[in-house]
Amino acid sequence: MAGLIPQHFIDELLARIDIVEVIDRRVPLRKTGQNYSALCPFHDEKTPSFSVNPDKQFYYCFGCGAGGNAIGFLMEYERQDFPQAVDTLAMVAGLEVPKERTEKPEKVARRKDLHGLMEQAARFYQKQLKEHRDSQRAKDYLVKRGLSGEIAKAFQIGFAPPGWDNLMKALASDDGTRQLLIDAGMLISSDDKCYDRFRDRIMFPILDNRGQVVAFGGRVLGDDKPKYLNSPETDIFHKGKELYGLYQARKTVRNLERLVIVEGYMDVVALAQHGIHYAVATLGTATSEDHLRKVFRYCPEVVFCFDGDEAGRKAARRAMETVLPLMEDGRQARFLFMPEGEDPDTQVRTIGTTRFENLILNATPLETHFFDALGAGLNIDSLEGKARLSKLAAPLIQRLPAGVYRELMLGDLAKRTGLTATALQNVLEHNPPAEAEPPPRQEPRQKPPTPSLPESKRDTLLYMISLLLLHPASANALFDEALPALNNPYQKTLESVLALLRKRPESSTAMLLGHWQGQPEGEVLTRALSLEKPNYDAEKAALALKECLSHLHKQQHQSELRLTVDKLRNANYAELSEDDKQKLREMLQRKAHGD
Ligand code: UTP
Ligand code: MN
Repeated sequence: MAGLIPQHFIDELLARIDIVEVIDRRVPLRKTGQNYSALCPFHDEKTPSFSVNPDKQFYYCFGCGAGGNAIGFLMEYERQDFPQAVDTLAMVAGLEVPKERTEKPEKVARRKDLHGLMEQAARFYQKQLKEHRDSQRAKDYLVKRGLSGEIAKAFQIGFAPPGWDNLMKALASDDGTRQLLIDAGMLISSDDKCYDRFRDRIMFPILDNRGQVVAFGGRVLGDDKPKYLNSPETDIFHKGKELYGLYQARKTVRNLERLVIVEGYMDVVALAQHGIHYAVATLGTATSEDHLRKVFRYCPEVVFCFDGDEAGRKAARRAMETVLPLMEDGRQARFLFMPEGEDPDTQVRTIGTTRFENLILNATPLETHFFDALGAGLNIDSLEGKARLSKLAAPLIQRLPAGVYRELMLGDLAKRTGLTATALQNVLEHNPPAEAEPPPRQEPRQKPPTPSLPESKRDTLLYMISLLLLHPASANALFDEALPALNNPYQKTLESVLALLRKRPESSTAMLLGHWQGQPEGEVLTRALSLEKPNYDAEKAALALKECLSHLHKQQHQSELRLTVDKLRNANYAELSEDDKQKLREMLQRKAHGD
């Protein structure tokens, strides 16, 4: 997002100012050891987990995961956009921001306009709920759904009146604004016609992290289809990332202990109506890793709440697989199923707050749900069933990050299957020993085998990124090395960081953080800050990088080997192609050499 502000200027600015001063002026800091610390300004806490590193010029909060350089701090803390934050700092540093920038921020200005319009739209719909001549129907509907005026207000619920151009007439004062409303997804333009997207619907504004309206969900008042209409993807709205109700939950509950993920808007609102203010909903999509990262940023526990039907079970299975790689020690995930035909909204109305909260507190922990779900339909008492369970469970357990939790799960699997933990570790690292029960041939697999690396190896990449970020000079170690082509989300960032350091080896941590501000790479860098930071100098970091690299190569060989071995197991050696045979021979040779 650096836009047209030249990068060299941003680098110079970051080199001139001191992040400690910038932050201390706004959030008084205390010196603790080599760093400075404070109560985090971005989330509620009683003991300080916000720290500022004067040497590397970055801040990071261990509580909520916020982190970045001085520019990023101002953007978060003062809600400035990038050029504003640069301006503020330039003033302090006595530098003049080069002129070209004035052309560029149109994109920033545009986002601001979009946010402004969405805010106006939300206010418009709320007003219609109060005043429109048809509003009684909408109010009756909300009352019938058990909602009070107070809760409707807390969620800024509104009413889009019937008619094709209510919003357009109210907000589209000129052609430019009309176009913006189209871009915001609020108006639909087809051929030469333009009309309101949301008509005769109850409107649920969707808020982002900062409480800005970025989209709407609109529900019909009756049984028409589609029941809900949602805003399309826009410059300010990405459906797969937002969680309905998260902003309200963070605002209402001071110390979030857990968040409950439900399926519908109405579930979130109904639970809040019953005093359960910590429910959020995805917007009609499956729960993604992005969603869960967000949840874990604010609390250590997630409770998935599903309908008790087949679709609910399927969704639970997906959620389970999605949450596994995020289960660092100290986090918990639980599963709660509603009785058939009920959703959290109807259920809380039937059984009341206390009993519903008890359901949440007693929801099935991941470790139990995991074995229940995998063991369903297997006869665990038979040898065959045990072999099957270990085959199903081992690759999933492997997706857990290394730690106590993973050890416990392995131990549990060992108990259930009668295999020793060491034997299972073997199943994990290599292939199941040949003497074990032969797996049923051609069973449908969990996933087709792809050469993508499991999460544990992804972490190696993130670790490498963190080493480079904190010790840019260590990049030397990797300049002459080829990275294995890994199908993995951190690869691109790692390569970008390396490319930048090759071009500008003198870049500092803060400069690197500034380079991808507001872009996906920037998010990865912030995430990299969350890793434990060993007390290395550049030289040690370089060694560590080399080790990581050889680890990656080794793992890639192993996973290739595993694929070929898998293939071999399911086929006859004779049926293998010459190519595969050759590959297998080579890999076995490499393995024999301990490579
Ligand atoms: P539900 O039908 O469970 O929603 O769909 P709900 O909130 O319980 O609805 P009512 O008002 O009580 O009947 C779950 C979610 O799926 C998305 C919405 O996000 C909804 O909240 N959805 C559902 C749509 O996007 N479009 C639809 O037509 C239906
Ligand atoms: Mn419902």
